[in-house]
Amino acid sequence: MKVAVISGGASPEHDVSLASGQGIARAAAELGHTVLCLVIEPDGTWRDGQHEAIELLQFCDVVVPALHGQGGEDGVIQGFLQQLGVPYVGSGVAASAVGLDKHLTKAVLRAHGLPVAPGITLRGADLADPESVLQRLKEASIDLPVFVKPGNGGSSFGVTRVTDSAELGRAVADAAGLDSQVLVEQEIRGREIDLAVMEFPDGRIEAGPALEIHSDPARPFFDTTAKYAGAGTRFVVPAPLDPALAASLRRTAVEVFQTLGCAGLARVDFFVPADGQPVVNEVNTFPGFTPASQFPRMWAAAGMSYPELVHNLLETARA
Ligand code: DAL
Ligand code: MG
Repeated sequence: MKVAVISGGASPEHDVSLASGQGIARAAAELGHTVLCLVIEPDGTWRDGQHEAIELLQFCDVVVPALHGQGGEDGVIQGFLQQLGVPYVGSGVAASAVGLDKHLTKAVLRAHGLPVAPGITLRGADLADPESVLQRLKEASIDLPVFVKPGNGGSSFGVTRVTDSAELGRAVADAAGLDSQVLVEQEIRGREIDLAVMEFPDGRIEAGPALEIHSDPARPFFDTTAKYAGAGTRFVVPAPLDPALAASLRRTAVEVFQTLGCAGLARVDFFVPADGQPVVNEVNTFPGFTPASQFPRMWAAAGMSYPELVHNLLETARA
């Protein structure tokens, strides 16, 4: 097949996407496909020019939008590919758009009875008014520490753990620099567990063995530095979990995938308190996909190699 891999993109996750795209392109070539790499520059332009990119995409059998964050993981590129009529890997427009928007993800999951962290969403004047934010947190019975996050985005860019109310204004301003919507969520103390959900060519949707994140203890949480430069971050897979809990997390992860209408792949991230119910932290409809990323690591623990994963994804692509 002729496979186009799109990577880069205009979001802060540009470099992560280049690494994901490189891994996928290499595996697709190993599988015997003709691979074309298309890069979206940080300013949103196509490296080869837009007309050329469209022509090349139309000539391909499958496109892999190996893009993270805004403009790539949020339905924008998916709508563009749909309009071109080329089959692409992963979720369609609606699931991508809802999956990247943390407010909408939570609204949809909550409406389906799936557990999410208590939180509030800030927009407009609230973004510049920490006193009213504190008041709203109080009304919602949310105590510090809280996590302040841009409504859209990934890799923890713009995310701050706030332990002191005096830091709230700065944290909200940082997140608001990346999005017009900001979430303030209750910290859920517990283990950080990821699940990799994948669709198989025969239509099965399954979650692989869970992965536990032991974040760099030198960092305040699994932040951008811990993710990409934290020497102390470790992934443990399969996560040592009680079998009943592991099975329940797998079921919930698949339910999240289906509730959002995802396709192909998604990583569903949980917080698991020592006592109490696991909570869905977020969904990544195109999770980090370097050979060292969580998604491939989880499937490796189930005996699937990286090229096998890529083969599987290419087989589930749809127009
Ligand atoms: N947003 C990053 C790439 C991840 O979820 O892995
Ligand atoms: Mg994410």
